[in-house]
Amino acid sequence: MRKLIVGNWKMNGTSRDLPEIAAIAAAARRHASVDSALCLPATLMDRARQTVGDFAIGGQDCHISDAGAHTGCVSAAMLSDAGAVLAIIGHSERRAAQHEQDSDVRAKAKAARAAGLKVIICIGETLEQREMGEALKVVLGQLQMSLPDAVTGDWLSVAYEPVWAIGTGRVAEVSDVLDMHGAIRAALADRFGDEGFKVRILYGGSMNGDNAVQLLTVPNVDGGLIGGASLTAAKFEPILSAAAALSK
Ligand code: 13P
Repeated sequence: MRKLIVGNWKMNGTSRDLPEIAAIAAAARRHASVDSALCLPATLMDRARQTVGDFAIGGQDCHISDAGAHTGCVSAAMLSDAGAVLAIIGHSERRAAQHEQDSDVRAKAKAARAAGLKVIICIGETLEQREMGEALKVVLGQLQMSLPDAVTGDWLSVAYEPVWAIGTGRVAEVSDVLDMHGAIRAALADRFGDEGFKVRILYGGSMNGDNAVQLLTVPNVDGGLIGGASLTAAKFEPILSAAAALSK
């Protein structure tokens, strides 16, 4: 399976950053054996699209409806219209701050798919849940409740992002990543049969150029979802390079 490396810019980026986005797209072209994308603020998408050629641009959330009276929201159809080809859905920051539930995540994933976008569904436990020994139960519960009814082809990815590893510099232990990704794969296979093996499982949480090889070598780690280290080409390219070396 080809590795998928996706940058999540979160609430970062203005027109000043368009040259950096172009530099990231150029870096991605140097590592063509890896699938890669940048999920940007919706406000930047259209202008970014014009500078990145065929490099994939995505959104970070969408509404469940195509259009309507939803002040401040952006629909999947709008993301697509602005040039997005994928969307991150159910990021833990939204689950926490916007109180998104698994049922919302599932509905949003369905809406994104209907608009022709690829989808990354995010799941992950908090530190408190891990310390109580509930990590596996929480993550598999989120997975089951957030997944769509059916999957065919490679439009869906799942990102395992332990909340305590996001933006903290604290990376999950390889043995924990091995266990969690193995359990997610087993659940996907159980639910979708052979199609469950086509779903890429990404790791997210303080991935950078120094730890990427170690994480991306773990069985069932099919790529990464990267926050801080995706904001510059200088930090993002070593991760692309690590994934490319493993793709040869
Ligand atoms: P960091 O790479 O900054 O830890 O963020 C991970 C993340 O939340 C990606 O969605």
